Amino acid sequence: MDTQRETLARGVVAVMYATREGQTAKIAARVADDLRAHGCAVELRNLRDGDFDIGGAAAVVLAASVHLGHHEKEMVRFTREEREALARRPTLFLSVSLSQAGAEMRDRPDELRAKASEEVHEVAERFFAATGFRPGHFLPVAGALAYRHYNWLVRFIMKKIAAAEGASTDTTREHEYTDWAALDAEAARFADEITQSA
Ligand SMILES: Cc1cc2nc3c(=O)[nH]c(=O)nc-3n(C[C@H](O)[C@H](O)[C@H](O)COP(=O)(O)O)c2cc1C
Repeated sequence: MDTQRETLARGVVAVMYATREGQTAKIAARVADDLRAHGCAVELRNLRDGDFDIGGAAAVVLAASVHLGHHEKEMVRFTREEREALARRPTLFLSVSLSQAGAEMRDRPDELRAKASEEVHEVAERFFAATGFRPGHFLPVAGALAYRHYNWLVRFIMKKIAAAEGASTDTTREHEYTDWAALDAEAARFADEITQSA
């Protein structure tokens, strides 16, 4: 891993992400493309690739997935270190999880959807408490089941979790629950906010 500290260029929208199985990388890349389509200069960075200083970035998008009730530790560390700089800019935090998929499934009973949504917010509150940072905007995003990417033990555990969340237990393929239209809409709204505050 490159441990050199990189300072992001002045005026850009920094899209910083942390992922384990790749879905959050796709989500961050989609938001970066959306922001560019709305006229923003964007820098997209995986927090695993180095050490970053948000420098003169005009705004910041943070995207991290959830594993075992916590966001990725590199995102916790980065956000804690940069919390004062983040607090001075427009920010959007994307929390990627399977619980959010459970919260969005229209064919599930209301109480199960509400419970899944509560979990999403509990995990987010844990992140805010651990980092001392509260984003300007928070969007929970449904992730994916990357069954073919998991080892047999993780596949077994995820099948159980998926069943509890009303998600697919067909382990022969991947299942994507991300609502791309909702993500595009939030990116467009954020681009407007940045443009107006510039
Ligand atoms: C080992 C493991 C643990 C997970 N734990 C949780 C969890 O506690 N809560 C949740 O909502 N989703 C959980 N998930 C689902 C992930 O958040 C989901 O698959 C997400 O899309 C992963 O994003 P990534 O591919 O960017 O890492 C877990 C997934 C795995 C493989």
